[in-house]
Amino acid sequence: MSLYAMFTSKGPSGFGYASTAEDVTEGLSLAGKTYLVTGCNSGLGHEACRVLVLRGARVIGTARTAEKAKAALTPFGGTTIPLACELSDPKSVRACVETVKRDGLKLDGIICNAGIMALPKLEQAFGYELQFFTNHVGHFMLVTGLLGQLTDTGRVVMLSSAAHTMAPKEGIQFDNLSGAKRYGDWKNYGQSKLANLLFAKELARRFAGTKKTANAVHPGVISTNLGRHMNAAMNVVFKAFGGLFLKTIPQGAATEVYVATNPSLADVSGKYFADSNVAKSRADGDDAALAKKLWDVTEKIVADLPK
Ligand SMILES: NC(=O)c1ccc[n+]([C@@H]2O[C@H](COP(=O)([O-])OP(=O)(O)OC[C@H]3O[C@@H](n4cnc5c(N)ncnc54)[C@H](OP(=O)(O)O)[C@@H]3O)[C@@H](O)[C@H]2O)c1
Repeated sequence: MSLYAMFTSKGPSGFGYASTAEDVTEGLSLAGKTYLVTGCNSGLGHEACRVLVLRGARVIGTARTAEKAKAALTPFGGTTIPLACELSDPKSVRACVETVKRDGLKLDGIICNAGIMALPKLEQAFGYELQFFTNHVGHFMLVTGLLGQLTDTGRVVMLSSAAHTMAPKEGIQFDNLSGAKRYGDWKNYGQSKLANLLFAKELARRFAGTKKTANAVHPGVISTNLGRHMNAAMNVVFKAFGGLFLKTIPQGAATEVYVATNPSLADVSGKYFADSNVAKSRADGDDAALAKKLWDVTEKIVADLPK
């Protein structure tokens, strides 16, 4: 496919690479709906929140601190609820879950958008590699804690990435979740994004027979704060030439908003999306046994975390 065709073509959904979050919700009223979005203060999450509010939804936006979330959401007007959810701190995740439950907030969608990428050196939380812990374990705690708050047709959207293809060949390195035996900035980011994808698959399996759905998305490649840990040269290239080959932030936010809100996806679950269309993941992104094993292992990790 030529670059021009890639930028302009549309898939079966009627949307494509260049569609924005506003495009994919054009004419849609989200009045009466409530969405929780993690990472509301930056990049794609910030834009997703803006457009959800624009379409009339109530938005619970989480950031590492409530102050950050409030500062991000206030300019949008509408009805927003800023909450702290530091994903690498189980106490903060649990407190976020408890607040949503205590306030009886029913959720039409949870968009697990927050993430960190390509940390140059091994960092850990509670003995686990930090990208795995933040991107996967933190969201696992949040979503499993909030399952009872989902409406009967509630949707869970996991931000994965095409970078899940950079995960180790064996998929998830269950013998090396600390990262101490082997560590690679992109390999471990890829592993965490494969984990996001597998989580959506296993959740979809558990939702079978209900009207709830779980899906994963690749948003595209977009210059955001996510690149803060990339090496300086790559950041210079992104900043100088990004306009030629990267999506804009409104385009990057489209797929997560589309999957969370589009009425035609009411029965679509367990899929991987890119450019607001169903896409193909790496083969082990479809491995049900691997997804189940990751769920079981993560459940045990969470159970053993300090209370
Ligand atoms: N941009 C891309 O090209 C691209 C490509 C594929 C997938 N993705 C995925 O898209 C998602 C959004 O990325 P983005 O590009 O919008 O990046 P971004 O601008 O860096 O936003 C990431 C968000 O995650 C939050 N976050 C990071 N660590 C956190 C933690 N420990 N606890 C709570 N929140 C935390 C950040 O908060 P702070 O601002 O406080 O750090 C920020 O709000 C990520 O999951 C990423 O993996 C992005």
